Amino acid sequence: MIRNICCIGAGYVGGPTMAVIASNCPNININVVDINSERISKWNSKDSNKLPVYEPGLAEIIKKCRGVNLHFCSDIGKAISEADMVFISVNTPTKKKGIGAGQASDLRWIESSARSISKYAEGETIIVEKSTLPVKTAETIKNILYSSLGENNTCKFNILSNPEFLAEGSAIHDLQHPDRVLIGGDNEEAIEKLSEIYLNWVPSNKIIKTNLWSSELSKLVANAFLAQRVSSINSITALCEETGANIKEVCNAIETDSRIGNKFLKPGPGFGGSCFKKDILNLIYLSNFYGLEKVAEYWEQVLNINEWQNKRIPEIITKNLFGTLAGKNISILGFAFKSNTNDTRESPAIGICKKLLEESCNLKIYDPKVNEDQIKLDLLSKQSSDIADKDYGTFERVNSIDESVINSDAIIILTEWSEFRDLNFSELIKIMRKPSWIFDSRGIINKTEAISSGFNVWEIGVGVDI
Ligand code: NAD
Ligand code: UGA
Repeated sequence: MIRNICCIGAGYVGGPTMAVIASNCPNININVVDINSERISKWNSKDSNKLPVYEPGLAEIIKKCRGVNLHFCSDIGKAISEADMVFISVNTPTKKKGIGAGQASDLRWIESSARSISKYAEGETIIVEKSTLPVKTAETIKNILYSSLGENNTCKFNILSNPEFLAEGSAIHDLQHPDRVLIGGDNEEAIEKLSEIYLNWVPSNKIIKTNLWSSELSKLVANAFLAQRVSSINSITALCEETGANIKEVCNAIETDSRIGNKFLKPGPGFGGSCFKKDILNLIYLSNFYGLEKVAEYWEQVLNINEWQNKRIPEIITKNLFGTLAGKNISILGFAFKSNTNDTRESPAIGICKKLLEESCNLKIYDPKVNEDQIKLDLLSKQSSDIADKDYGTFERVNSIDESVINSDAIIILTEWSEFRDLNFSELIKIMRKPSWIFDSRGIINKTEAISSGFNVWEIGVGVDI
């Protein structure tokens, strides 16, 4: 039976996942470690608003378990040496340079984790791949683990793949009630020990056991399928806008077919988040690596449509505001890649805001959970030449919807936060310039109310209504 867990990586996956295990397994002691000591001290903050990850329900679990059987610390060596099971939950972004740049996963953090395990582990240790990884990474991890062991070290390792399927914004719910738990491995005993942990709260029929490679590949495939649905529906939004069809009516008509279903059919400004793009790129890289160019081309299209959708939106805004945004004030509502998270990685808002800034307008950005430093980091990166350009627009993060909207020519909804669903149009229009526009890239507002208050409305998958 597992008594002591170490989780390497205290990020969006490591933190919430270990919190849920700790809360369901009071007899297991868990140490979550990270090389980023600032992140660790944020996890230890008494002020729940200062936790590094915002997820509904997370702060409550942290409060209950932290200091009892859940610990966030920087002593990686000690945590590994005490552990019977080590989860690797580190980042695996797309490589920026070298072989496979732009597609393959950058495995440097996986390698450094494996080296730490090899250095500090004692006795027999089960290693669990929680990070999303290319197929066959377990083999690489095994090689690193054994090749960096000292000569007289008799440590033994069993490697399992246990990919995480949580979605941000609903992480705690997803972890508490998973559709399935996938465990890939070749050592029965190790698989049983990991299953036993989940069986504390997950029904046994939801635990799927496979070989290592099926498990690693399934994670990439699940994300690719989800992203493909978003790209499919987004491709149809443009067709609706051209033809007079309405995307909501089309969705309603197709989702009633039980084979299609109603999930992941919401049109939007393109999918964001740290994983969809990187995991599809990974799939493309693997397909090309095995000489399967047609497979690679197929998945490339999912990314191409996503990029196209993202670029289309600032073009529509500019076109409708008399072809120029110079000197105009634009209210941006939402910056996170989806609601209920403070995460902005690959957020569609980043590309859209950058394109708008190139048109020399002034953005006032409001997001309930994304702070000013993060917005600056996202909008100032790789734009130094543009920023130096006097004609580049300006942006600031403001604290409320009203502050964002006052004196603006247009409101752009980029994230589906619930507070943007029932905007007070009759009041907002009074503080705006005329003509007053609203561009709803998520299709969430009450359009009839907006129009009757005097707004010109553009809605994704419908087009303009005045
Ligand atoms: P993250 O960047 O939020 O967290 C990773 C953490 O690992 C960082 O804090 C980093 O400092 C730490 N780290 C890196 N190398 C380390 C080392 N050698 N020792 C100690 N700490 C180290 O990443 P994330 O969003 O939590 O994602 C982690 C993995 O889980 C990725 O492979 C991702 O694809 C996968 N995943 C993410 C999600 C999600 O919703 N974010 C969902 C499912 C799967
Ligand atoms: C996604 C998957 O849903 C998780 O199962 C997976 O574990 C995770 O990736 C991962 O591997 O990181 P996440 O990216 O957190 O989770 O959030 P999603 O709800 O999948 O949304 C991703 C993006 O697609 C968001 O930008 C969202 O706005 C967009 N989306 C989603 C749509 O535009 N329409 C939809 O109908 C659904």
